[in-house]
Amino acid sequence: MTTIHLTDGIIKDEILVVGLSHKQGKNSLSIESGDIALDAKKFLPLLVDLGATGKSDEVIKVAGTATRLLVFTGLGEHKAKFADETLRRAAGAAARELAGSSSATFSLPTKHVASVAAVAEGALLGAYVFNKFRVDSLGDRRPSLKSVTVHSSLAQDSKAKAAVKRAAVIGDQVKIVRDLINTPPSHLTPDSFCKIFSELVKKAGGASAGLKVTITNESQLKSKGYGGITSVGQGSANPPRLLHISYRPAKVKALKTFAFVGKGITFDTGGLALKPAVGMEAMKSDMSGAAAVCAATIAIALLKLPIAIDCYAPLAENMVSDNATRPSDIITMYGGKTIEVINPDAEGRLVLGDALVKAQENKQLDAIVDVATLTSAQVVALGTRTSAIMTNNQEFSDHFFAITKEVGEAFWPMPLPVELRASLDSPVADMANSGERMGSMMVGGLFLKEFIAPELPWLHLDIAGPAYNEGQPYGYTPVGGTGVALRSLVALAESAAIS
Ligand code: BES
Ligand code: ZN
Ligand code: MN
Repeated sequence: MTTIHLTDGIIKDEILVVGLSHKQGKNSLSIESGDIALDAKKFLPLLVDLGATGKSDEVIKVAGTATRLLVFTGLGEHKAKFADETLRRAAGAAARELAGSSSATFSLPTKHVASVAAVAEGALLGAYVFNKFRVDSLGDRRPSLKSVTVHSSLAQDSKAKAAVKRAAVIGDQVKIVRDLINTPPSHLTPDSFCKIFSELVKKAGGASAGLKVTITNESQLKSKGYGGITSVGQGSANPPRLLHISYRPAKVKALKTFAFVGKGITFDTGGLALKPAVGMEAMKSDMSGAAAVCAATIAIALLKLPIAIDCYAPLAENMVSDNATRPSDIITMYGGKTIEVINPDAEGRLVLGDALVKAQENKQLDAIVDVATLTSAQVVALGTRTSAIMTNNQEFSDHFFAITKEVGEAFWPMPLPVELRASLDSPVADMANSGERMGSMMVGGLFLKEFIAPELPWLHLDIAGPAYNEGQPYGYTPVGGTGVALRSLVALAESAAIS
């Protein structure tokens, strides 16, 4: 775990990280070192010799003067005020390059509290490494940067101090999400997922922090009629679960009540619609939504936000066996709707449908948000870095979309065209679980919409691509689990706490 500190004093670390930008049109570099003066006459010619460009994701290490090592991290084009996300990514890229080091001071332009927050958060997120399953090869892997100090003239400002504390909470919870995504199904089952979060809730203070965990096991799920979750889980030796984490703020009345529901498929083989072998390993990430909503709920509790959260993670392993659900099987969802399972690989919507209905038994809800690695069509439509927002409430969607931009998570609104709904009609049941292939991301959204009360503001976030980075690391985003959606969910709760 990386620790974080804030100072306006002398630099105690042997490593100093500063920014490097370039001015438009000209080929001139500019050192952006916050309140710490560096000898530009010495370093600029050296940086030019090294071929520095100041572009984002460029990290250049040179011998320092006041410190042993001086690290220049690219901020892109020079700005009087750099965007929060630019600072977050630059700090992240540097922290990533500093794996193996024990401590570094980051001095970037931080004249605003939001900039301090961005540098702190970016550095913590960028410092992440996942070495849990390395034994013989551990020696040649570098552990994460242990200590980050943000240097800023705002260090004595109470808001800046609070922002750094908040960044630590976010950093810890995103690490939990990433660790779980990177953990394969040999080591993460629906049951162990529940146990891990029970422990995390305890560590966060449990009942005294307003948190409560309820786990529904397979036989209880069956007797209570959760046909979606049990049908997806019945092909596996690792039985399904429904995890519920509730958060009620202590002493104060909740200003708003939200339900979060996250898809928790600990592995998705596709079931009897077996996926091709190539790339199937990435389906260990099919519980990213569940991990994000659960960790977001803990973050909201740790930040003591005056918001009530009902968080649900329907968990199952989608496997192939003689017990697996067959194409044409008809199941009865929680609440009574019948579904013809045309495609056992469209399993996320089945577990989510049950949990969405369960969550709406709380009649106090102001809104409900589901998060899921739901469709490969999401990746086709928006690529690997942009998630989709679908909704039944434009105003809520607009509000959330604005929040995602502020926190630096790339989302984009997508429609739910009514004409696609007919493709989910079944000749034998209330609905089929898969329909028209063209626009299949939106068909997935339309399926879920059937489980939402029409007047309840709802967001469906399809994070299929962005949840898991199979490409190169960039900014504060590592290879593997990214933790996407957590920061937007926490910021959503924060926005409700002030309005
Ligand atoms: N978990 C997958 C979606 C997915 C694919 C996530 C690639 C991340 C990367 C989901 O359960 C699935 O298989 N969806 C099908 C639905 C289809 C059968 C209607 C899909 O998108 O192909
Ligand atoms: Zn899936
Ligand atoms: Mn699937």
